[in-house]
Amino acid sequence: MNFLPLLDKLEKTQALTDAELGGLLEDTSPRLASELALRARAVRERIYGRAVYIRGLIEFTNYCRNNCYYCGIRRDNLKALRYRLTPEEILACCAAGYRLGFRTFVLQGGEDAYFTDKRLEGLLRAIKKSYPDCAITLSLGERSRDSYARLFEAGADRYLLRHETADEGHYRHLHPGEMSLRHRLQCLRDLQAIGYQTGCGMMVGSPGQTTEHLIKDLRLLQELQPEMAGIGPFIPQHDTPFAMQPSGTAAGTLKLLSLIRLLLPNVLLPATTALGTIDPQGREKGLLAGANVLMTNLSPVAVRKKYALYDNKICMKEDAAQILDRLNKQVEATGYRIVRNRGDYPG
Ligand code: 5AD
Repeated sequence: MNFLPLLDKLEKTQALTDAELGGLLEDTSPRLASELALRARAVRERIYGRAVYIRGLIEFTNYCRNNCYYCGIRRDNLKALRYRLTPEEILACCAAGYRLGFRTFVLQGGEDAYFTDKRLEGLLRAIKKSYPDCAITLSLGERSRDSYARLFEAGADRYLLRHETADEGHYRHLHPGEMSLRHRLQCLRDLQAIGYQTGCGMMVGSPGQTTEHLIKDLRLLQELQPEMAGIGPFIPQHDTPFAMQPSGTAAGTLKLLSLIRLLLPNVLLPATTALGTIDPQGREKGLLAGANVLMTNLSPVAVRKKYALYDNKICMKEDAAQILDRLNKQVEATGYRIVRNRGDYPG
């Protein structure tokens, strides 16, 4: 198909119709992928120059009350070896990350009732006291509006909560009946109203996903205008109901990264670990397709393999310094460079 007029339209943020977006999503030609990547790169360079932002990820609990069919730390996975980091361990991760130049810490965990507002407030205040120049991102799933407000008050700056899919029926296919898309979206709106820099996003190639679903995902992103978007391929985990399902593809993920960069020019967009897992060059390719953020694991090496959302996750054995060293080289090869600042949303 002749997609050039569509891409021109996309860049001028003139609304593409669903049929036009669908056409772009279904065209798997390498020519479209490289044209999209080229344009996405131009947009990211206009806004962020050559800078790549880094985030220090601390996976501090893998207890989870939810039972998402795709996720390795789901409640019913009795093979998951559960752990929680102590506040001292979490602060030690921050200290090590700070020395390496990280100025954003991402505290990610399952939905773990042990981490009450009170415990989290204490933790956030302690981190902010030691590292007032750092941003804190939370990724703790669904909580009450009051809880989100308290955590914001205690120092959290950003919140990542992937919507996972914007289609009601597909949401049902990925999650048990006790969860709902409606509540997920309510949480996202609460986070935005409170003042968090907010991130949503979805897996690419999750079981049952169609082009229509992806169109809805892109429409939701346009509607919410999140500051961050987390997009990675679905990868099966052997102890989940989706163990036998095929992975999403790197090509599909890269195309979505480019489309999202064009639809939301300012968005903070990571080249995810999942992308690096299905393709050894995935993260570099992600940066060259419009992504501008890399997340590095700061969790103690001893607990890494217990945070197994999906199989064959990379960066399980190296410590943060080694990972960062390797990332630096990979990023340099793309012509970009890692910068050591908070990496806030522009404007
Ligand atoms: N493959 C890829 N990503 C996954 N996530 C959870 N399970 C998987 C999987 N099997 C993603 C979800 C969640 C984020 C923390 O990790 O999108 O929001």
